[in-house]
Amino acid sequence: MRMKAAVLHAQGLPRPYAETQPMQIEEVELDPPGPGEVLIEIAAAGLCHSDLSTVENQRPRPLPIIIGHEGAGIVRALGEGVTGLKPGDHVVALFVTSCGECRYCVRGRPNICASSFDARAKGTLMSGAKRLKRLNGEPINHNSGLSLFAQFAVVMRDSLVKIDPDIPLEDAAIFGCAVMTGAGAVLNTARLRPGEEIAIVGLGGVGMNALMAAVAAGASRIIAVDTSTQKLELAKEWGATDTFLAGNADCAAAVRDATAGGVDTVIETAGSIPALELAYAITARGGSTISAGLPNVASKFSYLHAALVSEERSIRGSYMGSCVPQRDLPMLLSLYRRGKLPVDRLKSGFVSLDEINLGFDRLSDGTVLRQILRPNG
Ligand SMILES: NC(=O)c1ccc[n+]([C@@H]2O[C@H](COP(=O)([O-])OP(=O)(O)OC[C@H]3O[C@@H](n4cnc5c(N)ncnc54)[C@H](O)[C@@H]3O)[C@@H](O)[C@H]2O)c1
Ligand SMILES: [Zn+2]
Ligand SMILES: [Zn+2]
Repeated sequence: MRMKAAVLHAQGLPRPYAETQPMQIEEVELDPPGPGEVLIEIAAAGLCHSDLSTVENQRPRPLPIIIGHEGAGIVRALGEGVTGLKPGDHVVALFVTSCGECRYCVRGRPNICASSFDARAKGTLMSGAKRLKRLNGEPINHNSGLSLFAQFAVVMRDSLVKIDPDIPLEDAAIFGCAVMTGAGAVLNTARLRPGEEIAIVGLGGVGMNALMAAVAAGASRIIAVDTSTQKLELAKEWGATDTFLAGNADCAAAVRDATAGGVDTVIETAGSIPALELAYAITARGGSTISAGLPNVASKFSYLHAALVSEERSIRGSYMGSCVPQRDLPMLLSLYRRGKLPVDRLKSGFVSLDEINLGFDRLSDGTVLRQILRPNG
């Protein structure tokens, strides 16, 4: 079938993207779903900073590619052997497909499935197939097995979680990445318990979800840190007990003073080394620094080794919120239904396919949280 899509043809072009147009809106060909694959119509897709990092070439990808890895839609057709879904079902898409068989999947860690990582590097679905091509026949790469900045997508069955049809798809979309990552970092990776304290460094779409999950989990104190005063004000409104402006030399000392030496659990959701350094600097002795931000692939973080040991510190990564999607998505959606994860607050307006480059200018400016693409109008 033919459809409209935003095809990324070059990484690292200068801003403004509204002028340089790293993504071009094209008619492309999408093949029908093969065995184990599903055709979905995309209702809504969020613009995540990870997509911006791809546009900026912080993470090189095979080109041309259709990016977009946070979204929700409606099942339109099933490939051979697909079970548990039927046309018309509403689904959330996940940016890690799990094979169910690799050493990570069998240990209950589908978010770090080995086959999914291989497929991502090759720009294919986990089946090995490429279902997208230009009208001149040139293959287009898949991104994270999803490629949601398009009207339709063919994805693996295991990239989808079915949801109740009464949940607005534009809210459901945000669960695919920002909610799973931010709330998952707090609830799964950090396993925050009621009455514990936490700090969150970086209050974008991901960080604000971490904040809302910390409120839902009953944190006694939530320290919110960002370089934007506007984000700090919102964080305060949404449940942060303390806010600190990052980007100046005194920030770490101010947080340590206010917390008698640091915070037990600190989550970094900014995606930069200065942010991770700050997160580590405000972590208390015996505490954990959990990083969910994704900086340039070559970035390195250093720390004083002896202090890591003598202070019994830990540093952990958190990918897709350490989630088991089929278990966690229903749990997170039930928090949303009860008003405990009000993700609709994070929406900073809608964009059409034609406005997508402009949307990434706004995300790069740091003036928005989650912009939602509606590729079918
Ligand atoms: N681990 C995962 O599975 C996963 C999933 C999705 C996104 N990410 C990554 O998470 C990060 C956040 O994504 P997002 O979509 O929320 O981005 P965003 O652009 O919406 O938010 C980033 C926030 O960090 C703030 N910030 C920047 N530098 C800072 C600093 N030095 N100190 C404190 N705050 C700072 C910005 O002001 C902004 O509010 C990105 O790096 C993204 O690639 C990771
Ligand atoms: Zn994302
Ligand atoms: Zn696997």
